[in-house]
Amino acid sequence: MAVKIGIRPNGPYLVEGEVEVVDVNGNKVDTSARGPRFALCRCGASVTKPFCDGTHSKVGFQAAEGGGCAGEEVGVRNGPRAV
Ligand code: FES
Repeated sequence: MAVKIGIRPNGPYLVEGEVEVVDVNGNKVDTSARGPRFALCRCGASVTKPFCDGTHSKVGFQAAEGGGCAGEEVGVRNGPRAV
């Protein structure tokens, strides 16, 4: 199954599919309790980083114009990326 990453307006990244999330030290982050679909914090305010806990609504997070959805290039990496 292909991995799908969606962007919620003024909200998190929604990740769907089989992926491995690792922290800044390369340690695997357990996503098993979240199922095949989970949300990664995009605002920086979550207390459960790297996951979204809904705090973006409380802090009034506003995404950059365009929300990263159109006209914004997405970097391509050859290997895992820590979040
Ligand atoms: S995007 Fe939801 S808490 Fe940061």
